[in-house]
Amino acid sequence: MSLPHTPLERVTSIKRKLIILIGVAVGATIAVFYVGVKLGAWPGIAGALGGVVALAAVWFLARGLTRPVREMAHAANLITRGDFDVRVSAESRRDEIGALARAFNRMAVELGETDRLRRDLVANVSHELRTPITALQVHLENLVDGVESADPETLQTMLDQTIRLGRLVEQLLDLSRLEAGVVPLDIRSFDVETMLQGAVRESRLVRPGGAIAVRVDPTGLQGVGDAERLHQVIANLVENALRYSPTQSAVEVRATKTHEAVVLEVLDEGPGIAPGDAERVFERFYRSDAARSSEMGGAGLGLAIARWVVDLHGGSIRAEARDPQGCRIVVELPTAIGAA
Ligand SMILES: Nc1ncnc2c1ncn2[C@@H]1O[C@H](COP(=O)(O)OP(=O)(O)OP(=O)(O)O)[C@@H](O)[C@H]1O
Ligand SMILES: [Mg+2]
Repeated sequence: MSLPHTPLERVTSIKRKLIILIGVAVGATIAVFYVGVKLGAWPGIAGALGGVVALAAVWFLARGLTRPVREMAHAANLITRGDFDVRVSAESRRDEIGALARAFNRMAVELGETDRLRRDLVANVSHELRTPITALQVHLENLVDGVESADPETLQTMLDQTIRLGRLVEQLLDLSRLEAGVVPLDIRSFDVETMLQGAVRESRLVRPGGAIAVRVDPTGLQGVGDAERLHQVIANLVENALRYSPTQSAVEVRATKTHEAVVLEVLDEGPGIAPGDAERVFERFYRSDAARSSEMGGAGLGLAIARWVVDLHGGSIRAEARDPQGCRIVVELPTAIGAA
């Protein structure tokens, strides 16, 4: 929707508009007074007539001058009540009001997006928490009713659900700390191979699988960053590689160096990530259809956390397909993070 045309809409600043209005008012008063006196009217009458003409001229010229401000006040009230779809129409104005309207509309878009993310987050978190809690409740009810006995298998299932809950809560805390920026990175120089070996050992514990080769070229390669956090990223990537590829297939972790970055890669021979999902897998709670239907995945937070950590290092992370099949996750870490 656009505003109706107003007489001063081509003037590009409010200050100039005011100068024009005052100039017209004074000019009109003087002109009418002068002509009135010349024609023999009483000076008092001529002055009053000049004032009326000036007021009429100013009223005509100032039409629509404050309408956008009223419209913005109304829109701000709607936003306060949670209606983020509202927009103001003075965007095309050339003066400061137009700039304010454009900023206002951008703010409304941002607020709407933040609100949508918040709702999604609450919905996703509730959903992810409900699944293990329901499973635990069913088993506990059965135990209390004597329908099920406390055999090791039942207890193991309950333990698995409790572990899943604990992990989810830990991931959520981690993500919120990272997003809030309350965990500063401990940036130091570190030995890449030691970090990778540690991460591989850890992921093996979580899910024992086939062979995992670690190749670092050149040997003794040094990286710069928070080794603890990067360890967590690589452990997550290796865990994914083990989880989403057949048990006996090979998983490889590589580290190389370019002119400005250390490049870490985790490769597997599984079905890989569809090109359309390559960006989305880094979103919170996103899981591909295959992972969702097979129930083999977690909550879909691992890669979101990985991206945050890598971004904080000023690096990048991406998912690529391998030929003929498999997934390859590439992390590039700048070697001059100290300055970042
Ligand atoms: N190596 C891989 N091969 C195929 N698909 C993968 C691979 N790594 C990740 N994905 C897909 O990306 C999705 C998101 O991965 P992410 O690590 O963020 O979550 P998750 O493994 O499902 O759960 P979490 O890591 O939180 O326990 C996975 O659900 C899976 O669909
Ligand atoms: Mg994962």
